[in-house]
Amino acid sequence: RELKKGFPEDFLWGGATAANQIEGAFDEDGKGLSTSDMAAYKDPYAGESVNNFTFNVNSIELEEYLNNPDKYLFPKRWGIDFFHHYKEDIALFAEMGFKTFRLSISWPRIFPTGLEEEPNEAGLAFYDNVFDECRKYGIEPLVTMSHYEMPITLTQKYNGWVSRELISLFEKYARTLFNRYKNKVKYWITFNEMNMNLNSLYTGAGVLEDKVDNVEEAAYQASHYQFIASALAVKAGHEIIPDAKIGCMINRIESYAKTCKPEDQLQALKADQINTFYPDVQVRGEYPNYMKRFFAENNINIEVEERDFEILKEGTVDFVAFSYYMSHVTEDRPDAKEIAGKLDSPIKNPYLELTQWDWPIDPIALRISLNKLYDRYNIPLFLVENGLGAKDVVSEDGKIHDPYRIDYIKKHIIEMKEAIKDGVELMGYTTWGCIDLISCGTSQMSKRYGFIYVDQDDKGNGSLKRIPKDSFYWYKEVIASNGENL
Ligand code: BG6
Repeated sequence: RELKKGFPEDFLWGGATAANQIEGAFDEDGKGLSTSDMAAYKDPYAGESVNNFTFNVNSIELEEYLNNPDKYLFPKRWGIDFFHHYKEDIALFAEMGFKTFRLSISWPRIFPTGLEEEPNEAGLAFYDNVFDECRKYGIEPLVTMSHYEMPITLTQKYNGWVSRELISLFEKYARTLFNRYKNKVKYWITFNEMNMNLNSLYTGAGVLEDKVDNVEEAAYQASHYQFIASALAVKAGHEIIPDAKIGCMINRIESYAKTCKPEDQLQALKADQINTFYPDVQVRGEYPNYMKRFFAENNINIEVEERDFEILKEGTVDFVAFSYYMSHVTEDRPDAKEIAGKLDSPIKNPYLELTQWDWPIDPIALRISLNKLYDRYNIPLFLVENGLGAKDVVSEDGKIHDPYRIDYIKKHIIEMKEAIKDGVELMGYTTWGCIDLISCGTSQMSKRYGFIYVDQDDKGNGSLKRIPKDSFYWYKEVIASNGENL
């Protein structure tokens, strides 16, 4: 291939969201309750503990939330009311020049409990309208089928993805989407950040961790069933939409060794394998050998069927999508295995600055990751999440001045461009939370990622007015110049 000097002409610039963090309207038009509708807000300013990185729900909490919903705030039930504002929001994305818009479909909007034979027509019609609106502006939808939510009934009845039953229920859902949107959507991702099952089994797989004997084993079991469901979906998608491009996705964390001590280096390799295990399976269609040893040595026994291995081979992906927020430092220590795969790390990198939520900022690791992933898979990559969660303020002039966000994204784009010059095939870049939305990990509104400010506070008060931030105009120019004017 020829030497690249910058972003390709057909580079897909855009932004990314997830249904449960934007839509709201949690019980409108027949939508069923989802796992994310149970993410109760815990007020950090009132001294309540907030897990910065993920939300988890145990079986006692779930009962409580279902029986006494009025006692709690559930921000993901109201989102930013994209359900009623989608036209206005997509028009703003178009004004920025988006080529693509990543969004997810809410499974319980299509199959309210997951168990119905027939889909909910009103739910399907909503996404028809959204895709038509995108197409009106020439914006290509990039659709995640499962982004951290599923019908809560599947948690209650099966404890989520630890049950094999979910495979056929997901396949039915996937086929419904491909058939319905075959003329409107070409780019698909099956599961969001599947490796985050190791971080929170409830968030990624609807599993109540207190209901399983061995959480680590359950995480790999749930992942196995998701691998099979994803492969079946990829296969069906290719049959139904011949030119579809269907990807897998991980949360990429670049792992540095703390020192050049060989034991630290070996640990960094192991941490990296835990991260690449997911695309290894989904790109190659088979389990990597290092995981066979890992399972054997850690007494992890997962149930598989012989035909699973054929399915994996038949449903390999077209591209590797990933989110990138941070790098980690690893060292040889007794809890090294427990730390690997988790978002939160106890080992700090003295060379990096932190965000207001203590996430290390490391644009160069993005270039390293892009190179490593491309060298490993040799298929196109798609950076589908990256961005800065920050507390924005509306200034006296009524504007939102966010130079820190511009600086963050600019530095990451510079490294993406370097990686492209290194020879990496990168399809596109969708910044996370292109419009302010509810945080996945903390359910806060005040952790803002957007180019577009949404007037709403953590408790759901506000006019919902949309205001372009300074970064909005900056990103517009980035897209117009195809990444040249930063
Ligand atoms: C990714 C998720 O892991 O990180 C998103 O796919 C999430 O859903 C994003 O919002 C940022 O995390 P947070 O906790 O700041 O919202």
